[in-house]
Amino acid sequence: MNSFARPVCIIGTGYVGMACTLGLAELGWSVHGYDILTDRIERLRLGIPPYREPGIAESLREHLDSERIHFFDHIDEAARDCEIVIVAVGTPAREDGSADLGPLWTAIEQLSTVRFTGWPTIVIRSTVPPGTSDAIAAAVESWADLVYAPEFLREGSAVSDFLNPDRIIIGAEHPPQAVRYVHLLQRLQKRVVFTTRCNAELIKSCSNAFLALKISFANEVANMCDVLGATSDDVLRGIGYDRRIGSEFLRPGIGFGGPCFEKDVKSMAHVAAQYGLGRELFSATLRVNDAQPNKILKILESELPTLTDATIGIWGLAFKAGTDDVRDSLALRMVEELGRRGARMVVYDPAVHVTPLPPGSRLVTSALEATHADALLVLTEWPEFARIDPLKYASNIERRVVVDGRNVLDSSRVAAAGLTYRGVGRSERGMEVPLRLVSAGS
Ligand code: UGA
Repeated sequence: MNSFARPVCIIGTGYVGMACTLGLAELGWSVHGYDILTDRIERLRLGIPPYREPGIAESLREHLDSERIHFFDHIDEAARDCEIVIVAVGTPAREDGSADLGPLWTAIEQLSTVRFTGWPTIVIRSTVPPGTSDAIAAAVESWADLVYAPEFLREGSAVSDFLNPDRIIIGAEHPPQAVRYVHLLQRLQKRVVFTTRCNAELIKSCSNAFLALKISFANEVANMCDVLGATSDDVLRGIGYDRRIGSEFLRPGIGFGGPCFEKDVKSMAHVAAQYGLGRELFSATLRVNDAQPNKILKILESELPTLTDATIGIWGLAFKAGTDDVRDSLALRMVEELGRRGARMVVYDPAVHVTPLPPGSRLVTSALEATHADALLVLTEWPEFARIDPLKYASNIERRVVVDGRNVLDSSRVAAAGLTYRGVGRSERGMEVPLRLVSAGS
């Protein structure tokens, strides 16, 4: 099926590594997966994926059965016969916001011990600060070529994003170094941008920083709508229809979570500071995001006599819909904060089945079970929440309050069921205070 006689080696079995592994197998390549976590390799060999995502268990099974994918717990066996080695290990944030490149350098050190049968091309796909892949290129120049090719996939749709990218960015010192990698992906028939490694690193980090900025902007607009009695759905839709702006990533809510945005914006702020550059936009993006959960909790607080000893039904814990990932989930942070304020939570998430919760709180197995509470708080944008008829849970909610931190519910249906609905920038309230301010100043 393909013209590569040799398999491709993928180092790392996280979201990016697994998407590369399954995506390349889907494209017809033979893939060798490797991870330093031997128990994960054991499970993968048995067909058990390391995380939940629609379709990946089936795809893994299919490609294990067809022997297109093999997993190794020894790097020499995994990489020796490969011409291309893709490195997709995590680059978590350190305390000061800088990226921890330890796992990446460990992978490179491990690769330097491999007895390659040819001259390999190493392709870094992890998100790294600018200058990192040039430093790695210098370290490996006596035994490998180094290409930086960022990945733009989202959790929840990782493999299909891998197979349908908006663009393929390839950073290399000389185009010939990238030829093998282009060949690997040529069936995707997507726009390819050839550039330097440093440019490619900046494209990735700045794309994430810009998406995060858009979300913080949407949250600021929605908060303003709340005060003015305006509707953020209409305002942001109207803004997004301008093609220069675009409507994606303008959904207001509790703020962005997950392992990427906060880490990448922090890393960009750290790089800006390192070079004596302004980092106001990065810092403001993070400040708005840090403040957003409290804004939603204030709405909840304003609708209840007290949070102490209140029971709050929670819909959603994952950092976004379509995943069971709670890493840097603002939903989880909000549940912890509610616990500190003396509330008890009855929590339901369709994908998260185990996670530590504050004392007195518990995970339940159905959305309706979580509505037996004083108020209901929606924290993840699972579309299935919107499909539940509010009449089914209205009478369960003691104080008849629903705070929709993701604007996922149909506000009029919730209100028609006799509940008080509060969303983000979906205020029904008047604009007495702002109007007075406007007329006083004008
Ligand atoms: C993000 C980027 O979207 C990917 O392009 C990138 O490859 C990835 O980071 C990465 O660097 O690995 P991901 O973190 O999986 O992907 O999730 P997103 O879908 O981007 O959502 C991030 C957070 O923003 C979630 O908490 C989500 O609920 C929130 N969000 C998203 C909003 O609050 N509003 C929106 O309009 C969109």
